[in-house]
Amino acid sequence: MDAKHVNSYVDDRPSEGVFRVHPAAYSDPELFELEMKFIFERTWSFLAIESQIAKPNDFVTATIGRTPVLVTRTPGNAIRAFVNACRHKGATVCRMEQGNARYHVCPYHGWAYDANGKNVDIKDRRAGQYAAAFDAENHDLLPLPKVAVYNGLIFGCLSPDVPPLDEFLGDIKFFLDCVMDQGPNGMEFVPGRVIYNYRGNWKLQLDNGLDPYHLTSTHTSFIEVQNRRRRGAGNVEARQFDWEKRAATRGGVFGFSNGHSLVWNDHPQPENRPIYPSNEEIRQRVGDTRASWILSKLRQTTIFPNMQIPEAISQLLRTFQPVAVDRTMMRVYCLAPIGERPDLRAWRLRQFEDFFNPTGIATPDDVATYEECQRGFQAKELGWLQGYARGIAAIDGGENEVTREIGIRPNESVIGKFEMQSEVGFHSCHREWARLMEAGLAGRKAYE
Ligand code: FES
Ligand SMILES: [Fe+2]
Repeated sequence: MDAKHVNSYVDDRPSEGVFRVHPAAYSDPELFELEMKFIFERTWSFLAIESQIAKPNDFVTATIGRTPVLVTRTPGNAIRAFVNACRHKGATVCRMEQGNARYHVCPYHGWAYDANGKNVDIKDRRAGQYAAAFDAENHDLLPLPKVAVYNGLIFGCLSPDVPPLDEFLGDIKFFLDCVMDQGPNGMEFVPGRVIYNYRGNWKLQLDNGLDPYHLTSTHTSFIEVQNRRRRGAGNVEARQFDWEKRAATRGGVFGFSNGHSLVWNDHPQPENRPIYPSNEEIRQRVGDTRASWILSKLRQTTIFPNMQIPEAISQLLRTFQPVAVDRTMMRVYCLAPIGERPDLRAWRLRQFEDFFNPTGIATPDDVATYEECQRGFQAKELGWLQGYARGIAAIDGGENEVTREIGIRPNESVIGKFEMQSEVGFHSCHREWARLMEAGLAGRKAYE
């Protein structure tokens, strides 16, 4: 493929009423290789949240594209990130998900590194008959060219040629603040996480996290369960909001630069959320506008390329790590205010378990659907996919009463009833996908 062929995968002409993506974008192994190179290795990726490494020598591991990463807090209280591969023979040095360690000792031949990535020991060095040329080499872990934190969210990049994180995130920062400002002491992951894999492309998750249209057909068993709960039977402790009340609510989509996107609607029953009792505290701390976006809206925030924070049924943060063109590894955390009251934490957990995760009522439906899409993509006859068009006629230039109230300026937005179930949320991600692929193929920098 060359740069001028990128538009045979993303047909981006909303002013003519057209936005289509070709199934090969999800199924061609050659494109997957290019995505690793031109997207994952050249843009910011979410790594961890700051409270995971609150103390000196705390660490957490992550992956950018296919590169293993080690994130540490140094004894001097700095946050640093390294390629988690030993300088000796390339084995991963740290093999745990998180913890606290003064030294990271490579299990293969025992080379040791500290939280600054500095090589502090080469096992049996003196007896090793090393030449001066070896001594002259740097043996430290390779630092990531870029690491930065926004409101407790740690990001890293394998390339130095990226805009500052603040600029990369742009106006979607307002919605990240809505996530991270829910507790007076910040946010944490409830201990533990869920990991699962599916046999499908990573962009199936990217899309689905922005897809209100599938809910009433994919998740019919959840609707059945809700009907039973309405009669007082089953897991009423989860206190889910009533989907029937949602159709008439106001909602919309904001598409931002650099691939970020948000889908939202007015919460039909905000009293069902575990932060509702903190209503007053939040309002006083962050002001009325932000408090109302925290408390009274359902929000699905997507940070391109592979992090999403859905806040509808419960509050979770997930990453989707591409493994192969048709394999993706999901990692899901339950987000919560630090120091939350135990009864509210229990309420939160009952919601976290209810809908999402392989043990929940909805994720198995979604995962099965991704795998069936991946099977359908094998049909060479299929041609352009048509699932990016709902709501296209309602796109505005990003300036309306809602964006003015918040003080943001998305590139495009759609506002209307939830029942529109707009697919415009996909546009900015696929537009950015095409932009980065084209830049890479043309030999240009990702950001000029
Ligand atoms: S690969 Fe790490 S010490 Fe040999
Ligand atoms: Fe779903």
